[in-house]
Amino acid sequence: MTGFDAVRWGSATAAYQIEGSVDSDGRCPSIWDTFARTPGAIVRGDTGDVAADIYRNPQALLDAVDWLDLETYRLSISWCRVISGADGSTNPAGVDYYRRLLESLIAGGVRPVVTLYHWDLPQWLQDRGGWTQLSTAEAFDHFVRSAVREFGDLVEDWVTTNEPFCAAFHGHLSGLHAPGIRDEATALRVAYVQLHAHGLALRSLRATAPSARVGLAMNLSDLEPASASAADVAAARRADLVENRLFLDAILRGQVPSDAADYFGADVLSAALDGIDLDAVAEPLDFLGVNYYEHNVVRAAAVGNDLVVRGIEKLPVGEPRSGNGVAVRPDGFTRVLLRVAGLAPDLPIWVTENGIGLWDYLDPDGHCRDVERVAFLDGYTAALADAIDQGARVEAYYHWSLMDTFEWSYGYQLRYGLFYVDFPTGRLIPKAGAERYRELIRGAKALRPATTFAVPA
Ligand code: FCB
Repeated sequence: MTGFDAVRWGSATAAYQIEGSVDSDGRCPSIWDTFARTPGAIVRGDTGDVAADIYRNPQALLDAVDWLDLETYRLSISWCRVISGADGSTNPAGVDYYRRLLESLIAGGVRPVVTLYHWDLPQWLQDRGGWTQLSTAEAFDHFVRSAVREFGDLVEDWVTTNEPFCAAFHGHLSGLHAPGIRDEATALRVAYVQLHAHGLALRSLRATAPSARVGLAMNLSDLEPASASAADVAAARRADLVENRLFLDAILRGQVPSDAADYFGADVLSAALDGIDLDAVAEPLDFLGVNYYEHNVVRAAAVGNDLVVRGIEKLPVGEPRSGNGVAVRPDGFTRVLLRVAGLAPDLPIWVTENGIGLWDYLDPDGHCRDVERVAFLDGYTAALADAIDQGARVEAYYHWSLMDTFEWSYGYQLRYGLFYVDFPTGRLIPKAGAERYRELIRGAKALRPATTFAVPA
């Protein structure tokens, strides 16, 4: 098996989930600060106020990256730290923090990949209508241009936005994520405005940083009808419309799926598309970021059980499954990668996220024996190799997450990290999963020709 020759090995995090220090050095509040403080929004009332304390102690992160022998690391840069507020001025302290972090990564031979929007919208923009407004996309474009100016000498690889499906439909329909709105028409509008923002950012990056490599990270799910009945097949297709095709069709073809008007209603759809530049959305990418977590078996149901897609029931998941009930199905990972390869054969794929949430704990001897994550890594890297053998052009794999984080609505209960975070002290402890991932990386590197992956000078 030589399928991994072209794959760079990494891990990923996002600013709000690890940094803490939300009031420090001129950072302005984000929608997640507001949402996390809303009673009942987050398990146990957790917030990102401290998180893994990485803003105060970035060395812990750098040590973890080094320990794992990573070649690349995906971080997000917080809009709220870099842009001071509505006047659009840059905040030197925020810029300085990320410059030092990026410089340290590069000095350690690690190539950074920067996500520009990982859900931490400045609250002042939410107060003006948030992602329903084209002016928010323009404000994002201003942030992106500022980021290229401040970090463009250190960063070549950019992810414009993370999981527009989740930000739109969990932020504005299920209400599980910030800003906690529950309205389908709003969610659809937000989906298109975020895609539009991606298009503007992509054009700005092309214009200002000619050597930049640009993509966006989409979460794609693997959906299977519960039976061959017409109703179940249609149910799976509805889920696929909302979770996958809305986004794939826009990014890869500049199109709206033909069944979108029927499902959402023609008026709702046309309001959602008002002012959206689908040509900009579909401008060629350098890579498509795929975040893979979910496989679901779907059947038709008059009263469904899904918080986003109407008229479907997602069936209970068998074993093995994650701590929050997500099926462990590496075959779904292979299928999703091959689907993208089929739709866009020449477009490189970067697996920008893949991982498992568990209720990890430390044994009395101080070790975290996350045997399920070890098995997950074996299964999903084998599935990755399968997809590559069958023609998927995968160039990078980022395990989510480098360390345990503030896991959005799950707070600190659900842990995805390769490193266990002892939240009271901020100490990072490699789990058994980290040891396995390091072995996998070293094994893959040993089998391939001398690597040529450059870090920016
Ligand atoms: C994804 C998010 C990421 C993390 C993982 C578990 O949806 O992009 O921040 O929470 O799920």
